[in-house]
Amino acid sequence: MKVMIYDQEGTLTVLDEPSAKTLMQAIREGGLNITAQCGGCASCGTCHVYVDEAWFARLEPVSETEDAMLELAEDRKENSRLSCQIELSAELDGLTVTLAPSAGFG
Ligand code: FES
Repeated sequence: MKVMIYDQEGTLTVLDEPSAKTLMQAIREGGLNITAQCGGCASCGTCHVYVDEAWFARLEPVSETEDAMLELAEDRKENSRLSCQIELSAELDGLTVTLAPSAGFG
């Protein structure tokens, strides 16, 4: 499977056959600008991404914990997700996301 990641500058990176379990881990392994400070337990908000419209409805729904964390992000949009809460699977082949400003190191 492939995952397309646009960084905060709009540069596209295609992650080919990521071995990571979650999208956040795959983005990290790709060396992209993501802090993911809490390591994946939905408690920091620094793995924030915007999911391409076509993909947003195909993901598992946002949990209450994730929603509460996203509420704290100034740059939340309707298609915001925490990438640590998105588990990668073959069905997500072609998933396209953009790293939110609040995900980066600055
Ligand atoms: S890595 Fe901290 S909320 Fe996702």
